[in-house]
Amino acid sequence: MPNFLGFFSAVLIFLAIPVSPQVSELMFSGFKDVGANLTLTGVAEIQKNGILRLTNETSRLMGHAMYSSPVKFKNSTSGNAFSFSTTFAFFIVPEYPKLGGHGMAFAIAPSKYIKGLPSQYLGLVNASDIGNFSNHIFAVEFDTVQDFEFGDINDNHVGIDINSMKSNASDTAAYYDEDSGKQNLSLKSGKAIQAWIDYDSVRHIVNVTISPTSKKPRNPLLSFPVDLSPLFNEFMYVGFSASTGLLASSHYILGWSFKVNGQAQALDWASLPSPPCPKKKHTALAIGISVSAIAFTISAVSLAVYFFVKAKNADPIESWELELGPHRYSYQELKKATKNFRDKELLGSGGFGKVYRGTLPNSKTQVAIKRISQDSKQGLREFVAEIASIGRLRHRNLVQLQGWCRRRSDLLLVYDFMANASLDKFLFDEPKMVLNWEQRFNIIKGVASGLLYLHEGYEQVVIHRDVKASNVLLDSELNGRLGDFGLARLHEHGSNLTTTRVVGTLGYLAPELPRTGQATTGSDVFAFGALLLEVACGRRPIEPNARPEELVLVDWVWDRYREGRVLDVVDPRLEGEFDENQVVMVLKLGLICSNNVVVARPKMREVVRYLDGEVGAIEELRINGGLEGAKGSGHVEGFDDFVHSFASSSFDNMSSYRDMAASFASFSTSPLSLLNGRGETR
Ligand SMILES: *[C@@H]1O[C@H](CO)[C@@H](O)[C@H](O)[C@H]1NC(C)=O
Ligand SMILES: *[C@@H]1O[C@H](CO)[C@@H](O)[C@H](O)[C@H]1NC(C)=O
Ligand SMILES: *[C@@H]1O[C@H](CO)[C@@H](O)[C@H](O)[C@H]1NC(C)=O
Ligand SMILES: *[C@@H]1O[C@H](CO)[C@@H](O)[C@H](O)[C@H]1NC(C)=O
Ligand SMILES: *[C@@H]1O[C@H](CO)[C@@H](O)[C@H](O)[C@H]1NC(C)=O
Ligand SMILES: *[C@@H]1O[C@H](CO)[C@@H](O)[C@H](O)[C@H]1NC(C)=O
Ligand SMILES: *[C@@H]1O[C@H](CO)[C@@H](O)[C@H](O)[C@H]1NC(C)=O
Ligand SMILES: *[C@@H]1O[C@H](CO)[C@@H](O)[C@H](O)[C@H]1NC(C)=O
Repeated sequence: MPNFLGFFSAVLIFLAIPVSPQVSELMFSGFKDVGANLTLTGVAEIQKNGILRLTNETSRLMGHAMYSSPVKFKNSTSGNAFSFSTTFAFFIVPEYPKLGGHGMAFAIAPSKYIKGLPSQYLGLVNASDIGNFSNHIFAVEFDTVQDFEFGDINDNHVGIDINSMKSNASDTAAYYDEDSGKQNLSLKSGKAIQAWIDYDSVRHIVNVTISPTSKKPRNPLLSFPVDLSPLFNEFMYVGFSASTGLLASSHYILGWSFKVNGQAQALDWASLPSPPCPKKKHTALAIGISVSAIAFTISAVSLAVYFFVKAKNADPIESWELELGPHRYSYQELKKATKNFRDKELLGSGGFGKVYRGTLPNSKTQVAIKRISQDSKQGLREFVAEIASIGRLRHRNLVQLQGWCRRRSDLLLVYDFMANASLDKFLFDEPKMVLNWEQRFNIIKGVASGLLYLHEGYEQVVIHRDVKASNVLLDSELNGRLGDFGLARLHEHGSNLTTTRVVGTLGYLAPELPRTGQATTGSDVFAFGALLLEVACGRRPIEPNARPEELVLVDWVWDRYREGRVLDVVDPRLEGEFDENQVVMVLKLGLICSNNVVVARPKMREVVRYLDGEVGAIEELRINGGLEGAKGSGHVEGFDDFVHSFASSSFDNMSSYRDMAASFASFSTSPLSLLNGRGETR
């Protein structure tokens, strides 16, 4: 009997051991011959020299390298996470010097097949599960792009991410030198960097340390208090993830060691594969050409002809072209994609040229190709401005530029294809499909956050200058994305560049524009206000066929609002199916944005906060007696209060909402002046 019991418990113990071999310590000095011990997905590969490459320099890729067996991270009895320690050496080589894309991360995840998105998501999470506790993802990111969406501090930072790309702690990449103190370190220099990540399960602290040498600095760069017990499952997978976006870098790992409940073995740089010397691009190509020239003894004449023909077809690359991030397509490729720019592929034509639908021959992805016609006023300089500005902007509510091509004076821009075309097609005349209120509100919120990104999310202020329904494109899920930055200019934060040419579209044009000739974030807000009213009312800002009192949308909405019948203006196609509070909020916001006094318009930051319901500002107006109550105070006085409240940027506190209500009164006397403002543009 005892024997039988012994046998039985032996079987039980055997069964309790997970089928895959369990590890608590890993050591890779280079990754030669790791075989099945690493699970590589995406474009990750181990190079012949033993270096693990997570991504190459092609746009929008992901690469994952996870240790194939799960690691026990938790005491199953007590539910406490174990301490762990890891160190690895990596280097990042960007496609264009100084422009990284997008970064890499050390990751602890519940599966070795991480389902994430490229670009700003670093291959770790997707747009819909971001921040969800069910992700169970712990990551330390080495991020080389500043993503406003996630509050990134700059384009060279290290961050601790828990279930989200919004870092719980982050700092500019730097290390502590014993002698000279804190030293910045460029993550994308192409030089090797060693990182250490240590978790203390007793004191509940994660430390992250980096250094340009194998000597661990005494002070960590990040020290974040957190108990990882609730985050971890009993078994987790460890490894690395990296992604590229519009801009791309190659992300490499030279060596890695990891240990649970103990200090990870030190890496000896001498035994790691050495990163290749940064090579000058095109040397390989040049060698290739000369070798083949000898091998095939092509005559000098044919070579000369070849180069002559080539030179005729390919424009010399100018220095500014090399500075720019986005992919440069060959003309042949785009010609093929659009079936020789045939009319059947034409999606539309705007003031600046024609837009074609195309299918890229290699990737078979659908794109929209904007061909800027030679005789258009938008010359090379504007083209440079367009690529330089949008090429580096990335936000999910902007139409993403994928690349570009220049052929003599033909300029071509390749954008993400937007399945549902532009918003105006759903709003005006006889739309094929009526958007319901929820869809409309979602589009408004999307456009607002895209515009906020342009205004504040980038190192320079980008003024859109032509916000309107036909420049709002809808993707397959009917998310609104701002497109056409053909008119955008970069404005250094704080500087006041004046432009001489007034651009924009009647009805969206802020009244001060024709006078000052100066587009500002305020004039974008004005146009956004017109867009808000259009979306709620389902008509254009100026409707020549409407009855005279309804000719100018903003005046009509304002009149109805004063009469307490604001719902009369709502798009009848909605058939009364909408969230009344939201609609009224959008209409009020539209009116506030359409104020003809520039300073009285809110900033996009405030607009986004209202739309997100973060501040009940519009609600507050009513609580405080509302617009009607505020009318009593003379509008000059109210206006002064309002200017003051904005100048002191105290928009968050309650009293300024009252001021705002007061300022609203300034409208009451001057709806006509709005019309006059427009009159100047006629
Ligand atoms: C894979 O991992 C196992 C267990 O840790 C180890 O014994 C083996 O040597 C590893 N194989 C390679 C090729 O590294
Ligand atoms: C990068 O990898 C992808 C997928 O393996 C490949 O299609 C592409 O050509 C590579 N790019 C470069 C620049 O090597
Ligand atoms: C797990 O926790 C239990 C209870 O706290 C403790 O008795 C045991 O020693 C722990 N096991 C390990 C491997 O730490
Ligand atoms: C995002 O990831 C979650 C969890 O992995 C998955 O359930 C969901 O389908 C993904 N969503 C998209 C849009 O890929
Ligand atoms: C988090 O993910 C789970 C499972 O994928 C899903 O059921 C849940 O709705 C998500 N929660 C949020 C807030 O998105
Ligand atoms: C980390 O950040 C995420 C997202 O910002 C947040 O939900 C979570 O509570 C934070 N966790 C800790 C421990 O601070
Ligand atoms: C380090 O980088 C930060 C952020 O970019 C910057 O503010 C700081 O001046 C830099 N320090 C040095 C010594 O260059
Ligand atoms: C983390 O850093 C702090 C501050 O330097 C240090 O006191 C602590 O011992 C470190 N913990 C680990 C696990 O490295």
